[in-house]
Amino acid sequence: MAKISVIGTGYVGLTSGACFASLGHEVVCADIDPDKVACLNRGEIPIVEAGLEALVEEAVEAGNLSFVLGAASAAAEAEFHYLCVPTPQSEDGSADLTYLKAAAAEIAPVLRPGSVVVNKSTVPVGSTTVVAEALDRDDVFVVSNPEFLREGTAVADFLDPDRVVIGGDDQDAAVRVASLYAKIAAPILITDPLSSELIKYASNAFLASKLSYINAIGELCERVGANVDDVVKGVGADHRIGSNFLSPGPGWGGSCFPKDTVALRRIAKDAGYEFNFLDEVLNINEEQFDRVAQKIANSATSKKVAVLGLTFKAGTDDLRNSPAIEVIQRLIDAGLDVCAFDPVIDETALEKSCPGLAVSLAADPYSAASDASVVGILTEWPEFAELDFAKLNEVMEAATIVDARGLLNAKLLGRRGFRYRGISS
Ligand code: UGA
Repeated sequence: MAKISVIGTGYVGLTSGACFASLGHEVVCADIDPDKVACLNRGEIPIVEAGLEALVEEAVEAGNLSFVLGAASAAAEAEFHYLCVPTPQSEDGSADLTYLKAAAAEIAPVLRPGSVVVNKSTVPVGSTTVVAEALDRDDVFVVSNPEFLREGTAVADFLDPDRVVIGGDDQDAAVRVASLYAKIAAPILITDPLSSELIKYASNAFLASKLSYINAIGELCERVGANVDDVVKGVGADHRIGSNFLSPGPGWGGSCFPKDTVALRRIAKDAGYEFNFLDEVLNINEEQFDRVAQKIANSATSKKVAVLGLTFKAGTDDLRNSPAIEVIQRLIDAGLDVCAFDPVIDETALEKSCPGLAVSLAADPYSAASDASVVGILTEWPEFAELDFAKLNEVMEAATIVDARGLLNAKLLGRRGFRYRGISS
């Protein structure tokens, strides 16, 4: 079993740290935020992530997971060092490597000879070299090991992945990183760092493209009068296409897809290739926000509209680049009064992520819908399918539902007196 330091305790670092510890490794997680470290040391998990709290608790009790302030104190004793820091989007679309370089520079003086620094953050092609330069140590190795964790299912994705990708110029260092996953039954692909880094971007941008494609097909279904659910079923039944990740929605978002698609566009441009296809993928997504907002606005017969769901998808409390927020902003711009409800978002969380957004928050779906003429379903929280629709109808001024997530049963809603509008109806 290995000693691992994890630098950065966001959802990637914390999940990776807790999962490595659950596999039996000895893990120390570090963060620069003293409040976060104190909170983790009290056993509190600062994010909504299924199964993570229990995993952290178990690993801390077993004595193989701890949290410290500052990267250097975590790194001193370890053999592997996972860099899991943010790489936000800079103004030119490229990924900002400030945190990555700072973390590397901080751990450099304390690294034991022969240890391996692993890039898990999503970093541009060539960043393994950037980290090696920031470390400025001939006696340590740098390896790329991108993460493919979805928020909300990150623990399950880590412990049961489709593949583990490792990119290293030094075969021995790459094999040592692979051995950390020995207890996981998944194919391991060992390649060079550039290919490993590109695999991450190519995967995220492909998935974003798949979604833009199916959202555009949804638009077409509406125009020609086809049934989008049946079209998706029929298309997804082809194994070469697959039915996963093929649900039309209000557009895609989150902290990764928008940033990584823009970054891949930039990487291509810097390499002399105009990846125009990705422009269209991004454009279609913007159009989808517009389209869903228009559908809600066009259905409104009064100034007040309600939206259910604020997070970028269900199972997370993350509001970053949320399609729901994009749609709400467009509704506000159209002069509508928006009242929202989300099961995991309160005013503090909303103000922190979307300062100044002129939306009022309700304590439950019925209060949000009270006196509204239309309700938009923008996040696929399962509880929205279990609402008391007779009660919802009673409190609304007019009963229209725009179901941008394809979550509800249109026939049942018709029986409850609603006008139902789906993604293509
Ligand atoms: C994504 C990738 O799926 C992970 O593999 C990757 O590791 C991660 O980014 C990352 O780079 O760190 P995540 O951002 O958690 O994970 O979100 P997804 O579950 O991929 O969803 C992205 C967006 O697509 C959401 O807005 C979601 O609602 C939307 N979506 C997803 C659809 O509209 N339809 C679908 O069928 C699936």
